[in-house]
Amino acid sequence: MSIEVVKLSEKFGKFTDRWSPKIVAELNDSYLKLVKIAGHFEWHHHTEEDELFLVVRGTLHLRIKESSKEKNFERNLVVHPGEFVVIPRMVEHLPWSDEECEVILIEPKSTLNTGSSRTARTLETLERI
Ligand code: NI
Repeated sequence: MSIEVVKLSEKFGKFTDRWSPKIVAELNDSYLKLVKIAGHFEWHHHTEEDELFLVVRGTLHLRIKESSKEKNFERNLVVHPGEFVVIPRMVEHLPWSDEECEVILIEPKSTLNTGSSRTARTLETLERI
């Protein structure tokens, strides 16, 4: 295996489709993926996996559902370039963005983009770039 420096701008330049994470590296039991996001995804959660979202370009929003005692409430997280957020397993989340943003994901190899449910937007296999 050759050890190479990875240029993010070059990798992001290799694709234009949105909501379709590309694998750029693997480490331990996780993949590092790049994804372009615009518009709304769908509510989902991951039963086994925590998910890291690191923003490279644009502004990412994540609506999340939280609960404390008997109260359930929703929050909208705003993630700017150079910022990241970790969504713990079981937390319902909905990524969205007004304008296209570029995001790095770090998550276990088992992670499905739509989480615990398979929908029309589920991607079973991801392209490697
Ligand atoms: Ni997710």
